[in-house]
Amino acid sequence: MSSNHKKSEPFDAYGAIARVYDRLNAEIDYAAWANFVEACFSRYLPNKPELLLDLACGTGSMTLELFRRGYDMIGVDGSADMLSVAYERAAEKNIAGALFLLQDMRTFELYGTVGAVTCCLDSINYLLDEQDIRRTFANVHNYLDPNGLFLFDVNSPYKFEQIYGDNAYILEDELIDEDGNVQAVYCGWQNHYDRETGICTFDLSLFEEREDGGFDRSDEQQNERCYSREQLHKLLEQTGFELLGCFGDWDFSEPQENCERYYFVARAKK
Ligand SMILES: C[S@@+](CC[C@H](N)C(=O)[O-])C[C@H]1O[C@@H](n2cnc3c(N)ncnc32)[C@H](O)[C@@H]1O
Repeated sequence: MSSNHKKSEPFDAYGAIARVYDRLNAEIDYAAWANFVEACFSRYLPNKPELLLDLACGTGSMTLELFRRGYDMIGVDGSADMLSVAYERAAEKNIAGALFLLQDMRTFELYGTVGAVTCCLDSINYLLDEQDIRRTFANVHNYLDPNGLFLFDVNSPYKFEQIYGDNAYILEDELIDEDGNVQAVYCGWQNHYDRETGICTFDLSLFEEREDGGFDRSDEQQNERCYSREQLHKLLEQTGFELLGCFGDWDFSEPQENCERYYFVARAKK
């Protein structure tokens, strides 16, 4: 999140990184994740939902995977750069039916309700205080059918403390075009985790190789906040949800101490 981010404005911290986001996250198995989403539908809903919202959909990985499986999809994200990649990917796959909307997750508006909402890959951690979480959860509740499902994940306190911490690391990737030309991309991360506020600041520097062998550099800053299971459970209850489960993995297992991600499943009580 950029430092001049205003609460009423769409989220705009994915400017430079949007271009390489999918390549840097290529190891995430969205098909397996979507299997978990559908397993939740079978477990917790009487009927398969028809229309889904993928909140903070980013470049549309989950949106397009669920569309492919036959659901009508709406994707909402606050970053125009991330959404334009989602549009391009949808166009490449000849998908005209998924609706992408540039909106903030705290204040988004839809035309009607949906059967389930997904919000993947720690997007909820980008909400930096409880009031923003409450607004988002209440908004999700408002647009869910009675008993509709809300599925989201967050990075665990263990991940903030032990993996992010004050560590620095580099992700690298190579893009090979049709002519066999190789373009290198490096993304450097410098983290700072403030245990008092629970906010982790990520200073990202992206180096993209040009044709002449030099590199273009772009920098951006993002912030995530750490929330405990108990905090999120309380916030769900305050906004009209019943917590159905908090899992450590896509196999519905209990989170272990060194679990890096919690998967929440909640039902909108109406
Ligand atoms: C880590 S990415 C995850 C994207 C996608 N869900 C995925 O699985 O790849 C976080 C996303 O949250 C979006 N985001 C963060 N804060 C937001 C806000 N307040 N409103 C809307 N989108 C937001 C960012 O633009 C970004 O696309």
